[in-house]
Amino acid sequence: KKPPARKGSMADVPQELLNKLQELEQMFTVSAETSRAVVKHFISELDKGLSKQGGNIPMIPGWVVEYPTGKESGDYLAIDLGGTNLRVVLIKLGGDRTFDTTQSKYKIPDGMRTTQNPDELFEFIADSLAAFLEEIYPEGVTKNLPLGFTFSYPASQDKINEGILQRWTKGFDIPGVEGHDVVQMLQKQLDKKKIPIDLVALINDTTGTLVASLYTDGETKMGVIFGTGVNGAYYDKVSDIPKLEGKLADDIPGSSVMAINCEYGSFDNEHSVLPRTKYDVQIDEESPRPGQQAFEKMTSGYYLGELLRLAVLDLQSQGLILKGQDMTKLQVPYVMDTSYPARIEEDPFENLEDTDSLLQKEFNIKTTVQERKLIRRLCEVIGIRAAELAVCGIAAICQKRGYETGHIAADGSVYKMYPGFPEKAAEGLRKIYGWKPAPMDQYPLQIVASEDGSGTGAAIIAALTEKRLAAGKS
Ligand code: GLC
Repeated sequence: KKPPARKGSMADVPQELLNKLQELEQMFTVSAETSRAVVKHFISELDKGLSKQGGNIPMIPGWVVEYPTGKESGDYLAIDLGGTNLRVVLIKLGGDRTFDTTQSKYKIPDGMRTTQNPDELFEFIADSLAAFLEEIYPEGVTKNLPLGFTFSYPASQDKINEGILQRWTKGFDIPGVEGHDVVQMLQKQLDKKKIPIDLVALINDTTGTLVASLYTDGETKMGVIFGTGVNGAYYDKVSDIPKLEGKLADDIPGSSVMAINCEYGSFDNEHSVLPRTKYDVQIDEESPRPGQQAFEKMTSGYYLGELLRLAVLDLQSQGLILKGQDMTKLQVPYVMDTSYPARIEEDPFENLEDTDSLLQKEFNIKTTVQERKLIRRLCEVIGIRAAELAVCGIAAICQKRGYETGHIAADGSVYKMYPGFPEKAAEGLRKIYGWKPAPMDQYPLQIVASEDGSGTGAAIIAALTEKRLAAGKS
């Protein structure tokens, strides 16, 4: 979505507010110099993550050890456990860089994200798969169907059909899963319920995006998600991944490639380079996992609305805006999800009438047009900062791998729904590289909308895995 052209001006906003706004703009603005320093540190942290000792960035080998050829074919099931829905997809790979998909969404029941009983989650996934099979194959199936599981959390893998959850991110918090293999947990429920499915591959959404996009576009260098979380995947050379030493079967030579799920949402957990505002510090301190996902907390959709909420409450408590209003409804943590700043940025600048009714209806807050202009500008700076910082991960990988041109395949709710996000992200890369301003499809490295990675990517990876197994490889 493109943001609407700006109409009207800030001329009627009182000086006191303009001063405050300037202060906030400074707090949230990332200079090209800062971005470059972030990228530099990022590169050394990526390398640390690949080393034997490891570092803050997990850099998880994804055990996808080849590039898709585009010739992969067959029928595959894929599931994608997202924040709100479980998506189940049947993918028919055409074998000629084309594919067809049929999908259903199953709403994750309330409370499931934080249920005390982990079996409940895997039972729900198994039941959803059974319901899907019934719909698609009412006459039943003759042999077990291969399934690719897109699990968008940091999960360690020593092989492709394994995923030991390191820690939950993005607000999931179910005991008894961290430190366990989610592949086994799901397969157990499938077997118990006699559902004819073999879980052949576990993948991260970024790896799926990378592989699915590469299936149709040979220029793809990375798969990235700008969504509830922020993360990226790329292919590295096996010989450049010291921590793989001793873990590789003989049929994977040093010259082969390996997809790496970076999990770079945890970049700068030690808080050494990212310019954090007091709102970032507050979000971290009040989160269930302080000190984790530092980069993600400043850039992903899970937190953008919360940043806005904290800033608005702060300005109100300083007596600068919304004087004397009852803020009870806005005082609830995370009541403002990212759809709020997104809708406010979609509102043409002049009177901001949609913003007016949105804030009244949802939070019982009455605003003046000047206050709304300030809030809208605040959304802009929060969104721009998120985009410009998030692309530091892209620049770091590309510089590390020596990619000067090519496509970065992007997916995720923020990339797709937040007004002007693709433009903001392209501008962030432009600033880091110092490219001359141009239409964004003319920059050497282009962020492009991906193929559906969590469905198609999982299917392609399942197909690659089956082919390796059939050839007697590990
Ligand atoms: C979080 C998860 C990561 C995922 C990203 C985007 O950072 O830890 O696995 O790729 O969100 O969904």
